[in-house]
Amino acid sequence: MLLGVNIDHIATLRNARGEGEPCVLEAAKICIDCGVNGITAHLREDRRHIRDNDVYDLKNKLKCKLNLEMAATEEMQNIAIELLPYACCIVPEKRMEVTTEGGLNIAEKKEEIRQFVEPLINAGINVSLFIDAQKEQIDAALYSGAKFIELHTGAYSRAFGTDKEENEFQKLKMAAKYAQSLGLTVNAGHGLNYLNVHRMHEIPGIYELNIGHSIISKAVFTGLKNAVKEMLNLVNKN
Ligand code: PXP
Repeated sequence: MLLGVNIDHIATLRNARGEGEPCVLEAAKICIDCGVNGITAHLREDRRHIRDNDVYDLKNKLKCKLNLEMAATEEMQNIAIELLPYACCIVPEKRMEVTTEGGLNIAEKKEEIRQFVEPLINAGINVSLFIDAQKEQIDAALYSGAKFIELHTGAYSRAFGTDKEENEFQKLKMAAKYAQSLGLTVNAGHGLNYLNVHRMHEIPGIYELNIGHSIISKAVFTGLKNAVKEMLNLVNKN
């Protein structure tokens, strides 16, 4: 199983000051140097975290396998075709949401989605659709021509440790098996953390997990000690 790291939160922190720190590219480089498969960045319509120059820098300067998360809009389609990231994950996007709440409902607009992803696939981009673990969504993903799906693990993550966990987990497991039987490659992500991620090993053949929030949150605490010590050294010099 591979890991893609979502670095949106580095950009959130940078934007809080409106300057260059922390540097998105530097964060991505650390992830790549650790051996992760790729970097995921969500270019939202409102550019609340990742900005256009970030995705161009990730692709052209770092030359990493960039998984561009984006909504199914004409603007994003044009950017993707110009940028040519390694992969595109099409996600639903609502302006007022804090994070991506639930998967795409492609079952109801499968022809629209097919037409949307066609030029991306023709441009050589690996297209993935972020969907809930439901048969009708998987069937629609297959119809679209995309070769990848990313199963939304938010419901499982929220249910983890409760009496609903097994039910949510089994939905993911069955969905992955069904999608793989149709020839789709299955990724998963959203809400996965250091406690709940281990069960993804119980789902045979998951290709990649995309994880962001828990990694960046943990990094604050694993990095804080060194950061404070380094500053203390500078402040206490004399
Ligand atoms: N995969 C997709 C499609 C997402 O939208 C997100 C959140 O941006 C993630 C994975 C990562 O989720 P989290 O930050 O909860 O790990």
